[in-house]
Amino acid sequence: MDIAERIRRGELPDGQRLWHGDFAQYLQICRRRPSVADLAHRRLHRMLAAAGGAQGLCEGQLFGLEQAFAEIDAFFAAAAQGLEVRRRILLLLGPVGGGKSSFVEILKRGLERFSQREEGSLYAIAGCPMREEPLHLLQGELRESAARELGVSIEGELCPVCRMRYGNLTGEELLAVPVERVTISEERRRGIGTFAPSDPKSQDIAELTGSLDLAAISDFGVESDPRAFRFDGELNVANRGLMEFVELLKCDERFLYTLLTLAQEGRFKTGRYALMYADEVVVAHTNEAEYQAFVHDPRNEALKDRMVVVRLPYALRLRDERRIYQRLVAERRPPGTHIAPRAIEAAATFAVLTRLEKSRRREIGLLQKLRLYDEEEIQGLGARDRQDLQRESEREGMHGVSPRYVVNQLARALVQTQGCLTVGATLQALYAGLGSHPSIDAGEQEGFRNLLHEVAEDLGRRLESEVYPHFVAAFEDHLGVLWHRYLDGLDAYLRAVRAGEPPPDDVEQRLRSVEEEIGVAEAQKRAFREEIGVFAAGARGRGQIGSLPQHPALRAALERHLYGSIQSLLQGALQDPSPGEGVRLRIDEVRRRLAEQGYCPRCTEDLLQAIGSPAPFAFG
Ligand SMILES: Nc1ncnc2c1ncn2[C@@H]1O[C@H](COP(=O)(O)OP(=O)(O)OP(=O)(O)O)[C@@H](O)[C@H]1O
Ligand SMILES: [Mg+2]
Ligand SMILES: [Zn+2]
Ligand SMILES: [Zn+2]
Repeated sequence: MDIAERIRRGELPDGQRLWHGDFAQYLQICRRRPSVADLAHRRLHRMLAAAGGAQGLCEGQLFGLEQAFAEIDAFFAAAAQGLEVRRRILLLLGPVGGGKSSFVEILKRGLERFSQREEGSLYAIAGCPMREEPLHLLQGELRESAARELGVSIEGELCPVCRMRYGNLTGEELLAVPVERVTISEERRRGIGTFAPSDPKSQDIAELTGSLDLAAISDFGVESDPRAFRFDGELNVANRGLMEFVELLKCDERFLYTLLTLAQEGRFKTGRYALMYADEVVVAHTNEAEYQAFVHDPRNEALKDRMVVVRLPYALRLRDERRIYQRLVAERRPPGTHIAPRAIEAAATFAVLTRLEKSRRREIGLLQKLRLYDEEEIQGLGARDRQDLQRESEREGMHGVSPRYVVNQLARALVQTQGCLTVGATLQALYAGLGSHPSIDAGEQEGFRNLLHEVAEDLGRRLESEVYPHFVAAFEDHLGVLWHRYLDGLDAYLRAVRAGEPPPDDVEQRLRSVEEEIGVAEAQKRAFREEIGVFAAGARGRGQIGSLPQHPALRAALERHLYGSIQSLLQGALQDPSPGEGVRLRIDEVRRRLAEQGYCPRCTEDLLQAIGSPAPFAFG
């Protein structure tokens, strides 16, 4: 249908066509779909369940938080039952940049989308500043019967505005109270409130609980007239949905007190009114240091009692940490830039290492621990050992380097290198930024720098074992060519010898170039050629001449030469502006194979340099 036509028919810009009607119709809707009258916790629980739990909701966005997500699911499952848990504040406790805000953000978006769907729909008294549940219009025995008959639970009283407008209505007038379907939208300040503490002196409780409308007081005469009050505090806004407290424990005591009443009674104090009912999920975050201070202050006993604490630690599994950077750096890099294979892994390895604690089992080093957390089994260590290690280090994941730090450094390095984020540049960037990481003191910095060197060394070793086979493969190709050229030369040489003539110069040169490469001295060459000649004749006679050197001594000599010389060969070749043809061919072949693996010309050179040097990936 034409867009203009759809708008004409009353569809909202977000594709919604919201319903308007009256209380009588709403009662029918409740009968058909009792879930419309769900309290906030249950609606949120159903949203999560529909998404496959918190884990499902955060799929592809947050990694390594399975444990926290299971606890969060359990919290909402219990709260949805209307249990006492509903009166608790969900406190997310985690280190800086550990995903607390991201998680709450995802929850909010989930709730918004859910409220737009039929199964997540909710209704409100039209014109109510808090979009309150229309069933609040019912009181006493009528309310009890309605709850029984409709299969809903009804909680809370009319807000001051609605009480003034509708509090005394009966009969048809009551049934005609306007009701509308509402959706949750943070942007439009419906059903999602957020509060972040600012400077304690300038904090105004009105931000939470609404404020007097000074201009309107003169119209209505008294301050207690609800028409002279703006119910626009964050707690008002969050009614029916979710209230987020950023850094809760940094808040002034008055704020915490308001929150405590809300938690204990489901009500909060606003202006001159009696406690006002509110139905909202309260999610707060804080960090370890503030939490410890809070817990140890006896004055906080009551509030502490009202909290369900869920830890959101940093990822400790390498693969989770890699996915974070894959998502935030690799997939969002500027066009035309490249990220070297293993650069992300280098960064993630470093980040996880900073979070691990040394085991009491001396034989298990940090890198080994990291591997064991990442893999099923390593070098005879398995699930049992993993559990042991986890048990002895409870604070793991609550400190160390944050993903935000790493992402920032990588993003900056990617721009600075203007092209390719090599492993070397990655380590350099992580190294250089340590001084400016919040929450990391000078002592830790030193330790972290050492960890970076460990990562460089470890990666260097692993890359060697990755690249050497390419040299072998390239060498074998090269070897086959040499072998056949040698055989051809040898034929010409032997013909000449038999005819009693001196071999042609080019034949002699060709043979020597191979012999020299494998260390056959001038004095040994005759014997060597005789021997190979006899060997080749035999193989030919049997029709078994191969593509690679079959003569054991020749082959062994070439292989010795190969394995013993990769590093020096590489070193030499990279320093030598014009290496011999053989060497150049080999290195070109290695470059070709690296390109197949995703290395661009730039990171190929970075890698070859690293492998060709005794201290790989120099930085610092
Ligand atoms: N487990 C994780 N999975 C994916 N991304 C993560 C994870 N933890 C953190 N991040 C990313 O790191 C960045 C910082 O996270 P976020 O702002 O949510 O942390 P926070 O805990 O709220 O930090 P702060 O304490 O500083 O407020 C975000 O870009 C987030 O996506
Ligand atoms: Mg945050
Ligand atoms: Zn109201
Ligand atoms: Zn590259």
